[in-house]
Amino acid sequence: MAQQEMSLSWFSLLSLLLFKVFVSGVFSLNPNGSEYISAVGDPGMRSDSLRVAIEAWNQCNEVGEEAPKMGSPRAAECSDVLDSQQQGGNCSACTRVPPSLVHRVTEEDNLLGIGKSFDGLDKKALFNPDLYAAEKELYLGSKCQVDDKPNPWQFWMIMLKSGNMDTYAAKCPKNGHKVGPFGPPSQFPCFGKGCMNQPLIYHNYTYLQGPNETTLKGSFYGSWDLDSGLSQTSVNENISYYSVTWQKELGQGSWIFHHVLRTSTKYPWLMLYLRSDATSGFSGGYHYQTRGMSKIIPESPNFKVRFTLNVINGGGPNSQFYLMDMGSCWKNNGEPCNGDVTTDVTRYSEMILNPATPSWCKSDSPKLCPPYHTYPNGTRVHRSETTRYPYEAYHLYCAPGNGEHVEQPSVPCDPYSNPQPQEILQILPHPVWGEYGYPTTKGQGWIGDPKTWELDVGRLSQSLYFYQDPGTAPAKRKWSSIDLGTEIYRDANQVAEWTVTDFDILVPNKN
Ligand SMILES: *[C@@H]1O[C@H](CO)[C@@H](O)[C@H](O)[C@H]1NC(C)=O
Ligand SMILES: *[C@@H]1O[C@H](CO)[C@@H](O)[C@H](O)[C@H]1NC(C)=O
Ligand SMILES: *[C@@H]1O[C@H](CO)[C@@H](O)[C@H](O)[C@H]1NC(C)=O
Ligand SMILES: *[C@@H]1O[C@H](CO)[C@@H](O)[C@H](O)[C@H]1NC(C)=O
Ligand SMILES: *[C@@H]1O[C@H](CO)[C@@H](O)[C@H](O)[C@H]1NC(C)=O
Ligand SMILES: *[C@@H]1O[C@H](CO)[C@@H](O)[C@H](O)[C@H]1NC(C)=O
Repeated sequence: MAQQEMSLSWFSLLSLLLFKVFVSGVFSLNPNGSEYISAVGDPGMRSDSLRVAIEAWNQCNEVGEEAPKMGSPRAAECSDVLDSQQQGGNCSACTRVPPSLVHRVTEEDNLLGIGKSFDGLDKKALFNPDLYAAEKELYLGSKCQVDDKPNPWQFWMIMLKSGNMDTYAAKCPKNGHKVGPFGPPSQFPCFGKGCMNQPLIYHNYTYLQGPNETTLKGSFYGSWDLDSGLSQTSVNENISYYSVTWQKELGQGSWIFHHVLRTSTKYPWLMLYLRSDATSGFSGGYHYQTRGMSKIIPESPNFKVRFTLNVINGGGPNSQFYLMDMGSCWKNNGEPCNGDVTTDVTRYSEMILNPATPSWCKSDSPKLCPPYHTYPNGTRVHRSETTRYPYEAYHLYCAPGNGEHVEQPSVPCDPYSNPQPQEILQILPHPVWGEYGYPTTKGQGWIGDPKTWELDVGRLSQSLYFYQDPGTAPAKRKWSSIDLGTEIYRDANQVAEWTVTDFDILVPNKN
């Protein structure tokens, strides 16, 4: 099915543009300018200057091994459009592409990989692929950084992840503790040795194109199938594939980020997200210093997220399309994370948009339900109160593997897929979320229904259940990653395709 639909994608994009013209006339939800400010470096994706990076993670959010000839799986494109006056100046560090576009990151920077030194590289990272990637991200960030108040910022982050795991290779710790080989790996796909490889990453640099050279367009794309070999990789082959193409008209509107993700027999579990990560500190699921777009870290309950999403292809029944995916980190005693992977806990919450996703939280089997649901008026309902608890509002809840007082029955989260324990709360479209601007019925915002969302993510995330040890002060819920995208879970030969535009995070203006 997917391949026929692919060719229609740019038509769908066109209809999204028409849709946007339509909504801009009637859409007046904008919070008052004086009350809210943007937390991101490029509010609404409207700057002609581009700041975008890409990263690839293995099952436990590390590199493990670099793909041949690809360098470390971190790359960036940061370009500035200069008017003719600006072009008169000096730009010794830049490579010039057509007249008025300057690229801050070179191909050589993007191909940096273990064994190759660069400014600021710590010696102990030189031959360690995991540490090297983390430092390369900082280096690319230094080339892309834009000074701003209250903090400088660097780039949107495209994140790729493969769920393959070679349990016999013992590469991933369990809840942050090193473990030996085990098997067979029933819960993880793996075609054999080397199944945790990093993808091929190709780059089409942005340049001004179109009849009047007024369209900025570029992309990152590739495959996890290393033997596919060709840089002409495309979605129309039976191999894994991803691409993110960005496009913008000079001086007008938003960047359009167009995403494609395809799974294959060897790589049936793949993820592709566009993230607004913290510009320093840790970001969701990443236990190294990060770089990103959120110059202010949004904190519950006071923030909103606005964007336009057009889902063109869903990615099949097992595509967990996240309307909103938030990542944070705090310890079970409520304290902020400090990099100790045995006590830090990644906290995730996601709204799954795919109408095919069922609720696994059931009144007669509450182990996958969070212990409590809290209504917007503050009323808290226990999962045993079958007449008042909204079971269908939840896909699943799983508890942190190191929670000592988790209410039973419960299911622990996958102990391997993060460098540290994790807790996940996944919600589904349901009337209980309507108060926060989220979809209330299945199908809203799905294929054929592009929408501009303004989500009260702050209030919603404040109301959600997350585990803490009894008697501890509630954690400050600071969301260092706010993402959009999909995770196609163990389903080969599925294609997902979507666009994101106008992305912004709004926080109260404290001045
Ligand atoms: C928006 O800001 C204006 C000017 O600062 C103020 O007068 C008005 O009350 C605000 N509107 C709302 C809805 O708070
Ligand atoms: C550019 O930089 C060089 C070396 O720093 C300097 O000699 C030259 O005068 C500069 N040119 C302009 C136009 O600023
Ligand atoms: C990258 O550029 C090549 C050559 O122009 C083109 O064939 C290919 O479709 C582009 N790929 C993407 C994903 O934009
Ligand atoms: C290119 O410029 C010409 C002349 O200004 C204009 O008529 C035409 O619509 C432009 N084309 C596009 C695709 O923007
Ligand atoms: C992809 O696989 C399908 C079914 O397995 C087959 O019919 C098709 O010809 C293959 N396409 C290519 C390009 O190999
Ligand atoms: C709060 O909302 C819930 C769900 O709508 C309702 O059942 C309950 O009566 C409300 N409680 C109060 C105190 O208004």
